[in-house]
Amino acid sequence: MKPWPYPIWLAHRGAGKLAPENTLAAFRLGAGFGFRAFECDVKLSRDGEAFLLHDDTLERTTSGLGSPNNVDWADLARLDAGGWHSAPFAAEPLPTLTRIAAFCQANGCALNIEIKPCPGVERLTGEVAAREAARLWAGAALPPLLSSFSPEALEGARNAAPALPRALLLDTLWDGWAEATVALGVVAVITNWRVMDAALIERLHASGWRALVYTVNDAAVAERLIAEGIDGIITDAVNELGPSC
Ligand code: G3P
Ligand code: MG
Repeated sequence: MKPWPYPIWLAHRGAGKLAPENTLAAFRLGAGFGFRAFECDVKLSRDGEAFLLHDDTLERTTSGLGSPNNVDWADLARLDAGGWHSAPFAAEPLPTLTRIAAFCQANGCALNIEIKPCPGVERLTGEVAAREAARLWAGAALPPLLSSFSPEALEGARNAAPALPRALLLDTLWDGWAEATVALGVVAVITNWRVMDAALIERLHASGWRALVYTVNDAAVAERLIAEGIDGIITDAVNELGPSC
């Protein structure tokens, strides 16, 4: 296997439990707990801005309505993406990928960009996210790791920025996942922790792929996976697991 430059612990959605997910406030909170690697979800506005949001709609985590795919960035930028979480975070904005890149580079943090397309724009989202990532991290010592559940998004990312490392996300080991992993030219597989075990880690390593998991919030599970040789753990529990604990 090639050297793996990323920290083992990654804060999920920024550090999106104690602060609103996928906001700069969440990244600041995670960095305060000593995290030096983050996962976040990236999708596109109507006019093609790459920004952070998990859901396909705006309702749960912002003051907006409907699909972000139908809204220009100038309007998305005015939404409150923090008030839903708790009053101290009211008026926290949605961040662009550009803003998160600046934070990560200023603080020496690694980033795992999960390409999270709205339905129907998988390839385009992969292309734009990867192109933006290549531009924003040009010349940086540590490139972002691009990941997605969508093979189409990963194909788009590969076409737009072939040099950036990619990972396939798997919630289950669906038929053909190993063949897809080969075809997509990824460097890592990131699974739901429930499907990762010593045998799968060994199989992935034997094929030259790194093995990562999401979302581990239990110390015993983390200890088991570390003993089995896991390469990365994405967690919400930044105040209980990982760097400063
Ligand atoms: O990238 C790993 C993890 O974030 C995938 O699940 O739904 O939290 O984006 P989700
Ligand atoms: Mg995610």
